[in-house]
Amino acid sequence: MTSDLSQKAQAHLMPHYTKGAAWRAENHLVLDRGEGCYVWDTAGNKYLDGLAGLFCTNMGHGRADFAATASKQMERLAFFPTWGFSTPPAVEAATMIAERAPGDLDEVFFVNSGSEAVESALKFARNYHLSQGDEGRYKVIARDWAYHGTTLGALTVTGVPKFREPFLPMMWDGVRHVRNTYGDSISEGGTAADLASVQAIEQMILDEGPDTVALVIAEPVQNGRGALVPPEGYWQELRRICDKYGVLLCADEVINAFGRLGHWTGSERFGVVPDMITFAKGVTSAYQPLGGVIMRRPLVEAIWDSPMGIFMHGSTFGGHPVSAAVAVANMRAMHDENILQHVLDHEDYFKGQLDELMLTHDCVKEVRGTGYFYAVEFMADRVAGRDLSDAQAAALQGGVLGSFVREARVMIRPDDRGATMLTISPPLIADRGVLDDLVNRVDQILNRTGAWLAAG
Ligand SMILES: Cc1ncc(COP(=O)(O)O)c(C=O)c1O
Repeated sequence: MTSDLSQKAQAHLMPHYTKGAAWRAENHLVLDRGEGCYVWDTAGNKYLDGLAGLFCTNMGHGRADFAATASKQMERLAFFPTWGFSTPPAVEAATMIAERAPGDLDEVFFVNSGSEAVESALKFARNYHLSQGDEGRYKVIARDWAYHGTTLGALTVTGVPKFREPFLPMMWDGVRHVRNTYGDSISEGGTAADLASVQAIEQMILDEGPDTVALVIAEPVQNGRGALVPPEGYWQELRRICDKYGVLLCADEVINAFGRLGHWTGSERFGVVPDMITFAKGVTSAYQPLGGVIMRRPLVEAIWDSPMGIFMHGSTFGGHPVSAAVAVANMRAMHDENILQHVLDHEDYFKGQLDELMLTHDCVKEVRGTGYFYAVEFMADRVAGRDLSDAQAAALQGGVLGSFVREARVMIRPDDRGATMLTISPPLIADRGVLDDLVNRVDQILNRTGAWLAAG
């Protein structure tokens, strides 16, 4: 059955972000079912889902209660849009999300994916400034190596060169990228205001002219360049700078929100109230597609009270009642099963186990991350202080690392965005047993990688 389906996939199914040569050549995996933190392919092989699908299946696979919720909603009212109407699940989901968001982030605009959420945040920022008579503001400041999605607006703010360069002629001219927080730290006696990564943002606003800048967008913990946890006080500085120049601040929490960092939002984790939070993925644990933007109520009211009077944006399926019903069930389950506390209780153990791996493997340069979100970065030999050669990095990124990951029967991500890394982000329900299993499999991959580098 596997090879039959695999062949049909090769004939008819266009894969995302996958080279044609790889898709044509390989008898790739066809995944068939899941339970908890594990999934099975059509041949019956079992894999540990160490990436929660794609930072998505926070409450794990195979939940019959979520399926029942979706089915009940389909029978009752399968669909009505959120254009002038509402449905009980959309209202309830928005209310629950607003209650879990920090400060006066009280208004929820639903869409269907992370890219659309980012797209909506960009347009909301422009729409807001326009409504206030600030017509010159349209530029957006984002960070190097940050991934914000695929649609042309979201892609323009994305800072990963290989994703954006082919489409440059189709992008708008208003995005500026600045350095992220990689390698940045507060020096002895200094404050977060001294961080180069903070100053880069203020300098860019000044260089561009503050009255042309609409928005700063950043992830609390940035995925691209490998689980970049910001230095203490970084987000407070972003808030201060944005307030100083009348620029809106958006936390892109498509990965971070809904428990990945042990809190409902990453903004809560870092003690900041941005103007917008984008979310997707974990809001339904991916049992249904749903994304959205949480906005500060005064901004929404300012638009509604202005002559413009409207956020000029929408989509057919945004706030789909079935997705919204599943979001409600997911948030209730997260609460009832105390999942945020579970992550907080286990994050130190998890990070500690990964740090131990670094000590026993000279091919590990650094382990970064927090909560249930980590990156393991490679080098040729840490003890000798030798980085990967270009050829080693190209080979590891070009399939060698992927084959070691596949052999270990674990779904984690070989990552090439700015360095050679593994990204690890299991379902939030992973307990000590699953975390140990995951770390053992990473150990196996590091053994294979170390031996491959040594054979050289
Ligand atoms: C931070 C961030 N923003 C936006 C997106 C785009 O989300 P989607 O793939 O649902 O369009 C992603 C996807 O991984 C993401 O990580």
